[in-house]
Amino acid sequence: MVRSKHLLLQTLILAVLLGIITSDPEPLQDFCVADTVNPHSMFLNGAPCINPSQAISCHFMTSILAKPGNTSANRFGFNVTLTNIQNLPGINTQGLTMARVDIAVNGYIPPHSHPRASEVTILLKGNILVGFIDTSNKLFTQQLRPGDSFVFPKGLTHFLYNIDMSSPAVAVAGLNSQNPGAQLVSLATFASKPRIPDEVLKNAFQIGGQDVERIRRNLGG
Ligand SMILES: *[C@@H]1O[C@H](CO)[C@@H](O)[C@H](O)[C@H]1NC(C)=O
Ligand SMILES: *[C@@H]1O[C@H](CO)[C@@H](O)[C@H](O)[C@H]1NC(C)=O
Repeated sequence: MVRSKHLLLQTLILAVLLGIITSDPEPLQDFCVADTVNPHSMFLNGAPCINPSQAISCHFMTSILAKPGNTSANRFGFNVTLTNIQNLPGINTQGLTMARVDIAVNGYIPPHSHPRASEVTILLKGNILVGFIDTSNKLFTQQLRPGDSFVFPKGLTHFLYNIDMSSPAVAVAGLNSQNPGAQLVSLATFASKPRIPDEVLKNAFQIGGQDVERIRRNLGG
């Protein structure tokens, strides 16, 4: 009994190491077009599918990435438009998200992470500086020109900065999860609801109470 538990544990660890166990399981059928209309009373890891015989070509097509996002709608000067099961129901269970990234002149996507996905970004227009920080706090950074791609490893904090002083930047990114998630470091720490206690932030960032208040106010927290 003990030995078989031990074996199971070893097998699981091996499976994780070999990447056999991944967060998005392989689809069990050709496709699973998301049923976004019928309310469902149970929660699934993903969305239920419509009857496959009712799937049509337009379930697999979207124009959502054709339109630039409004980069004035937030204080950092970026906008990310994502495919999801609402605007592209055919993506359900495929383990994919596509993103259109618009960054204003001198705009940023501040340090953030995607807990459930690795990301590869191709720059279509502009001139940006990108980087990620690994878990030993080493920074990997590159300047990208149109046509260049860069990979952000899963879960690691990364940023994009439009260093072109005259034109906006446009990039397209692919993420290997249907629901990659995004967490901005500054907003998570200083604009959470409810608030992280001041004492924790003062200590974590080695700053005073007035600094905590100022940063909160600046970030709308
Ligand atoms: C992105 O742009 C859309 C309109 O293009 C806007 O509704 C949305 O609030 C913007 N998102 C952010 C995060 O600024
Ligand atoms: C973009 O967002 C800003 C701020 O919310 C707003 O004033 C402006 O009208 C928006 N532009 C477009 C094209 O929607």
